[in-house]
Amino acid sequence: MTNTFPPNQQFLLAARPNGLPQPHDWQFHEQAVAAAEEGGIVVKVLYLSLDPAMRGWMNEGKSYIRPVAIGEVMRAGGLGVVVASRSPRFAVGDHVVGAPGVQRYWSGPADDKAAGFVKVDLRMAPATAWLNILGMPGMTAWFGLREVGQARAGETVVVSGAAGAVGMTVGQVAKHMGCRVVGIAGGADKCRFAVEQLGFDACIDYKAGKVAAGLKEHCPQGVDVYFDNVGGEILDTVLTRINMKARIVICGAISQYNATAPVKGPSNYLSLLVNRARMEGMVVFDYAARYPEAVAELAQLLRQGAVKSHEHVVEGFEQFPQALLMLFEGRNLGKLVLKVADA
Ligand SMILES: NC(=O)c1ccc[n+]([C@@H]2O[C@H](COP(=O)([O-])OP(=O)(O)OC[C@H]3O[C@@H](n4cnc5c(N)ncnc54)[C@H](OP(=O)(O)O)[C@@H]3O)[C@@H](O)[C@H]2O)c1
Repeated sequence: MTNTFPPNQQFLLAARPNGLPQPHDWQFHEQAVAAAEEGGIVVKVLYLSLDPAMRGWMNEGKSYIRPVAIGEVMRAGGLGVVVASRSPRFAVGDHVVGAPGVQRYWSGPADDKAAGFVKVDLRMAPATAWLNILGMPGMTAWFGLREVGQARAGETVVVSGAAGAVGMTVGQVAKHMGCRVVGIAGGADKCRFAVEQLGFDACIDYKAGKVAAGLKEHCPQGVDVYFDNVGGEILDTVLTRINMKARIVICGAISQYNATAPVKGPSNYLSLLVNRARMEGMVVFDYAARYPEAVAELAQLLRQGAVKSHEHVVEGFEQFPQALLMLFEGRNLGKLVLKVADA
């Protein structure tokens, strides 16, 4: 069957980066959009989610998900609209979120596991919020804070990457739960945003080099939950301020993702022993069966104005290689998304 779509444009992984991804690690590719087969759909991508995890997926080696192969379309989450359907599950015009990859069109079986498309209702929240607070980062914050962090009212929660997608929601949800919330972020503007716009109690600018003093000042009762998005020295410093039975959520370690030398563990780990504390890794996909529950609660908080979903939108599919780097240079405020097309 022929179709009338313009050529599909894709970014393929051309090489495994050493350090920060470089332009030559990508190959721009064009090919015809495959028509929907029986049981299949074609999705026009409107927004792509740019995530720190994408850097890990470019590496060889064992992880929680298989690496992207050389010559394969780069894996990425995204939101799109169904533009052709031969499946009873989706109708033309439905909005879907899933993992279409870094391309303008996705075509394949409607029940493709890797793409994992599900319908979303844009009357409930705008498209970009479905990639943020109601999407993967929001789910990470929700389950990481509550299930792994076991945060309780009255406790002190510290979160790094505080002005980013996950950190922003962690802090806002923790405030809503009645916790004292102290963020750690890069730069005075991001810290001001966390306090003035998101309601954090305090935010420490790690680029000003005062994390230890900031924790002492802003966490007078110590730290009960540390939600770690960055790893490295900041994790080591927070370990010196934890309370008895503290919980440390190992969500990410963005400070290490582009390291060319082997990653070093925290030297202050014996603080876990002294404080009978726990450090636990999490992968959001383990909670997939419970996403609807978290989406319903977060959507309600959003409607009530109790939390905000803040996105940083970069326009233009061809901007992908440069836009991805913004995450590692701290140039995003809130969830970084790439606008690929108008609805
Ligand atoms: N475990 C899971 O299932 C899961 C799911 C989603 C995300 N994550 C992890 O959660 C973390 C946050 O992800 P996100 O999507 O919310 O990204 P994000 O926070 O929106 O963006 C990344 C931010 O990281 C900060 N950063 C970059 N390099 C840094 C460094 N060397 N040291 C300290 N901070 C640095 C920058 O903010 P500053 O300007 O403040 O430096 C940057 O804006 C990442 O580690 C990610 O891998 C894990």
